[in-house]
Amino acid sequence: MLDIKITRTAAPKAKPEDESKLGFGKIFTDHMFVMNYTAGQGWHDARIVPYAPFQLDPATAVLHYAQEIFEGMKAYRTADGTIQLFRPDCNAKRMQDSADRLCIPPIPEEDYIQAVKAIVDVDRDWVPHSDGASLYIRPFAFASDVGLGVHAAKEYIFCIICSPSGAYYAEGINPVRIYVEDDYIRAAPGLTGFTKCGGNYAASIKAGELAEEQGYAQVLWLDGVEKKYVEEVGSMNIMFKIDGKVYTAATVGTVLPGVTRRSCIELLKDWGYEVIEGKLAIADVMAAARAGKLEEVFGTGTAAVVSPVKELVWKGEHAYIGDGQIGPVTQKLYDTMTGMQWGRLPDTKGWIVPVEKVY
Ligand code: COI
Repeated sequence: MLDIKITRTAAPKAKPEDESKLGFGKIFTDHMFVMNYTAGQGWHDARIVPYAPFQLDPATAVLHYAQEIFEGMKAYRTADGTIQLFRPDCNAKRMQDSADRLCIPPIPEEDYIQAVKAIVDVDRDWVPHSDGASLYIRPFAFASDVGLGVHAAKEYIFCIICSPSGAYYAEGINPVRIYVEDDYIRAAPGLTGFTKCGGNYAASIKAGELAEEQGYAQVLWLDGVEKKYVEEVGSMNIMFKIDGKVYTAATVGTVLPGVTRRSCIELLKDWGYEVIEGKLAIADVMAAARAGKLEEVFGTGTAAVVSPVKELVWKGEHAYIGDGQIGPVTQKLYDTMTGMQWGRLPDTKGWIVPVEKVY
């Protein structure tokens, strides 16, 4: 159990007045959680302090070699005022897997969850009140050693910041257009595709920019070896409903094991759908579209929730999905996930964790 010292801000910021204009990850709460790691001492000095910039030496390791990992979570306000989290244990475990791959000392699961609950509790007044808005939580850890040698650092910082946010896409729940990337790759076997490390996202920005210039919301990545099989989208996993069955890439090293992804798979199976986690060739997706069998495509992610896709373009060929509207299974998943998260539906799966008022 962490002994978290709390220092409250003497200058609380004004909270956003119009929650419909929050956007994603643009404004931040009054406080942040910080903890340090020193080799030989372990993680120490857990604290909640006023939100403020870090002072970093220009030779700090993370600025040069990107030894960094992060997570994405949300806190939701229910109608009765309860503040709750969604499957925080899954994020804690995934952060440990990311930490292992990036040689960052793991944060014990119970400490991670305690830290998330503490910062959300201290800043609970920042959790939005309106439907669809939530407090986006961004835990991250980075190498804070000073020096230019390429090796695992001996000092790290673990920090959690929080941002009252609305929908990730400007489109909200409206279907998005996705560009199937055929040139750049995101991951390859043996690399870091299964982790949430900043480097994965840095390497994806160029393709994302090019896709955006052409009016696409994001890029769909193909496998890095044959550029044949669908993997994931920039900020979410992706699922395809073809002829009644749901297909998604297996999380076998190159694909991020999304918490929303696994929750949607569990729900789909509960509802009697066959879900196939494995290799799905982009050529087969396009053929299904031509045959009128590509019924629904949707992304899943903490930030994106369940996000319908209305169009894919691959090598100049366009696949239009359904009638450009959100499909029934996508809608049911969205309603069920957000229903549980915002407390409108009972938590039949044991996924919801309330944040008690302690501080
Ligand atoms: C999330 O869904 O929480 C993510 O971390 C995706 C992010 C890159 C916006």
